[in-house]
Amino acid sequence: MMRVVEQSLKDHNQSDDKIRFELFDSGQPGRAKQPASISDQVNKGIPAQVTLGGGTRNFVMKRDSSLLAAALDNALDAPYACRAGVCSTCKAKVLDGEVEMVANHALEDYEVEAGYVLTCQCYPVSDKVVWDYDQAGH
Ligand code: FES
Repeated sequence: MMRVVEQSLKDHNQSDDKIRFELFDSGQPGRAKQPASISDQVNKGIPAQVTLGGGTRNFVMKRDSSLLAAALDNALDAPYACRAGVCSTCKAKVLDGEVEMVANHALEDYEVEAGYVLTCQCYPVSDKVVWDYDQAGH
């Protein structure tokens, strides 16, 4: 549909620099394949700790679950909107452990370097993950 609108605008003499898009996607086409050693342990689960709204919860999460999905599965009222790495509503700071962020259309490089992630797009790659929504302004 966007291409039809784009073509219609061009047909009506609108210049390319005046035509802009907002892209929304719920897929994860860029998700990297997990190393075999991790894939073998997907169902074992890892310890997770989440801080939100001044409280901290501990639970076990699946390795193939996003940080956001794990928080929601454990009855946390974690913030989200697009679930596609676009809006940054799900932003949190990883305090311990490593994650793979499979898509990022919202955070600046300096935010990622500071440990901020889009929890809807992050999957654990370490044996423990600790993340904090409060430090991201929630
Ligand atoms: S919910 Fe929009 S970027 Fe995660």
